[in-house]
Amino acid sequence: MNIYLDNAATSFPKPETVYKAIDLCLRYKCGNPGRSGHKLAMEANHIIFNTREQIGDLFGILDISRIIFTSNATEALNLGIKGLLKKGDHAITSTMEHNSVLRPLHRLEDDVVISVTRVKADKYGYVPVEAIKNSILPNTKLIVITHASNVVGTINPIDGIGETAKKNRIIFMVDASQTAGALSIDVKKSKIDILACSGHKNLFGPQGTGFIYINHGVNLLPLIEGGTGTDSKKDIQPKLLTERFESGTLNTPGIAGLGAGIAFIKKTGIKNIREKEILLTKYLLSQLKEIEELNIYGLSNPSSQMPVISFNIKGMDSGEFGTALSDKYNIMTRVGLHCAPLAHKTIKTFPQGTIRMSMGFFTTEKEIDFTIKCIKKILKKK
Ligand SMILES: Cc1ncc(COP(=O)(O)O)c(C=O)c1O
Repeated sequence: MNIYLDNAATSFPKPETVYKAIDLCLRYKCGNPGRSGHKLAMEANHIIFNTREQIGDLFGILDISRIIFTSNATEALNLGIKGLLKKGDHAITSTMEHNSVLRPLHRLEDDVVISVTRVKADKYGYVPVEAIKNSILPNTKLIVITHASNVVGTINPIDGIGETAKKNRIIFMVDASQTAGALSIDVKKSKIDILACSGHKNLFGPQGTGFIYINHGVNLLPLIEGGTGTDSKKDIQPKLLTERFESGTLNTPGIAGLGAGIAFIKKTGIKNIREKEILLTKYLLSQLKEIEELNIYGLSNPSSQMPVISFNIKGMDSGEFGTALSDKYNIMTRVGLHCAPLAHKTIKTFPQGTIRMSMGFFTTEKEIDFTIKCIKKILKKK
C-alpha cells in the first residue's frame, strides 16, 4: 500500500466520481467543444459549460465567461503576469512565491520592461499587509501573492491585501494553487481581480487542468493565439471571452474530471474538508514534535496553515531520508526546494531545502501513525 503525503504537488487519490466522469467523457461524449454543431461536440460543450459554472459557483464569480481554462496554475500565472504588465510598470510580490510567479516576473525584469519588489515574509512564511502597503509606488500595477505557501502552508491575509490593492487602484492577483477547494474563496469579498488556480490539487481534477479568472476591466493580452472555432474569417484573435484566451482544443476529459472534483467538494462541504484537514495537521504536528531530531518550520498552528508541514533532520541528508521513506516504506513525500527558492531563504533552509509532508482529504490517522513509526525506524538506523 502507498501512503501519499505529496498532495501539495498534486492530490491523490481523486474522488471515485472524478475517475468516472473522465471515463464517461472520453468514451461517450468527447467531440471537440466549440468546433462543430454535432451531438458529440455539443455534449463536450455541455461538459465545459458545466465545469465553468461549478467554478463560478465555488468562487463567487457571476460572469463565468471570465473563467478561462488553462493546463495548470503555471499557465494561468504566466497569462496574468505577462498578459498584464507593460514597460515601466512596477509589481509587488513576496518571497513565499512559487517559481511560476517568480520566473515570469524575472523574465520581464530581465528584459528591462518592469521593476519588482519582493516583500520579505516573516520567518513563518507570513506576508503582512503592512509590508505590502509600504512597497506601493506610483507606478505599481500589480500585486501578486500566494494565498498559502507550498513550503510551510502558512495562509496569507488576502482580504487585507485585496483591500489595500483596491484603495490604491492596483490589480490584485492571487495564486490559489494551494488553497482552492480547501479554503473558501470569494473573489468579490477578497477583492481579487485575477485568480490563478491548479485544477489538480485540492479541486481534485486530473493533471493538465487549471484556470484563471479575470475580472471585468482587467485587460490581458493572450499568450497563445489560434483557432477558437469562432470568427474564423478574421486573422486576429477574437476580443470576446472566453475565446480570446482559449485557443486550440480544450482538455475536455480533464475538465469533466475537474467538474466532478468540484461537485465532490460542494457535496462534502468545504467547511467539513477544512475541519478534517485541520485535525490531520494537528495530529501529524503533535507527533512530529515529539521526535527531537526534527526541526519543524512554519507556524505549527493548524488553523492558520494548510496541511503542509516542512522539516529537516539534524545530522541527516533530507534526500536520503525521503528516498528511505519511499523505497522501504512506500511513503511518498517531497524533498528539496519545492520550486520556491526564496521561501527557503526566508525560513533559512536554503539551499538544502526541506522534507515536506502534505496531506489531503483522503489522508487517515492510521497512515500518519505508520509514517511516524517509519520515521523513528529510519532514525534508529542513522
Ligand atoms: C503556490 C503554487 N503556485 C503555483 C504552482 C504551480 O502549479 P501547477 O503545477 O498547477 O502549474 C504550485 C504547484 O505546486 C504551487 O504550489
